[in-house]
Amino acid sequence: MKDAEAIRQAAEIIRQGGIVAFPTETVYGLGADAYNPLAVARIFEVKRRPYFDPLIVHIADPGHLRKLVKEIPSGAKRLTEKLWPGPLTVVLLKEENIPDIVTAGLPTVAVRMPDHPMALSLIKVSECPIAAPSANLFGYLSPTTAEHVQEQLDDQVDLILNGGPCSVGVESTIVSFLKNRPRLLRPGGVTLEEIESIVGKIEINLIKDNPSAPGMFPRHYAPRTPIVLDWDETRLDSYKDKRIGFLAFQEPAHFLGFEHIEVLSKKGDFREAAANLFSAIRRLDVLDLDLILAEAVPEAGLGRAIMDRLRRATSKGE
Ligand code: TXA
Ligand code: MG
Repeated sequence: MKDAEAIRQAAEIIRQGGIVAFPTETVYGLGADAYNPLAVARIFEVKRRPYFDPLIVHIADPGHLRKLVKEIPSGAKRLTEKLWPGPLTVVLLKEENIPDIVTAGLPTVAVRMPDHPMALSLIKVSECPIAAPSANLFGYLSPTTAEHVQEQLDDQVDLILNGGPCSVGVESTIVSFLKNRPRLLRPGGVTLEEIESIVGKIEINLIKDNPSAPGMFPRHYAPRTPIVLDWDETRLDSYKDKRIGFLAFQEPAHFLGFEHIEVLSKKGDFREAAANLFSAIRRLDVLDLDLILAEAVPEAGLGRAIMDRLRRATSKGE
């Protein structure tokens, strides 16, 4: 099927109240007409996502933001002007007509304009904003290929648009503008440095410490195999009878008897590492290993988003 025909079909499904998985530059989303509460409810059902975890609304034209929110503070205006389309989500006071199921009853709505031609045409042809979480079962890693979506949700979604692997590979950066103060709620595909170069220093208030956005559980990007991030070579002895996979940022200096090694970026490039992150963890996760040891990456630029996802993949409590 040609892309244009697939998009036409997908848009028809969205208009009829169905749900469609589609590519964005960050991860694949599972979308429905944001103004159709029944269609949105099906997303929660299929993902087994708790209803108190709000969704991001996707638009294809920056001008549509005005229709979704009460006001656009100057910081949000500047950020969206510079960074849309792109991996930036802004949280603003919502307009009344957005169904509560989308925002989990919060007075705010999260909005983003994705930088992917298929996502943008899907939204345009559907003629409605599309509410979409990542297209994975709740609590598991986000999908970065159409095959990842197929593995978990194939028979439960009406259509999967295949746009190949996602170029960014980690979810959007979320910035809230409540009370006019920009706050970083989730590190993601746009770096904090880039955001601060546009709006100045911002507060960091990651959602895990912030009960106003209950969706961000500490353990949220978890594979089935336990991941250990906090380890050192002196402890390796205690793992000696175990089958261990290694998630390396760059090529490991020496071989330590791992069952399998995934290298995120041989040249140590954050962009490449982020784009490979979820696929690499999935490849390790199907090997039936006892344990995955992950290498920490420097916490600057995209390294922040990578470390955030790794910590959530390892954290033990909910
Ligand atoms: O890159 C992305 O953002 C991807 C693609 C598909 O756009 N989407 C994504 O959606 O990661 P999801 O549902 O997996 O994560 C959205 C996060 C959730 O943790 C949710 O709690 C938070 O956004 N969120 C949504 N609405 C919010 C709001 N009004 N206030 C605070 N946080 C909100
Ligand atoms: Mg998600």
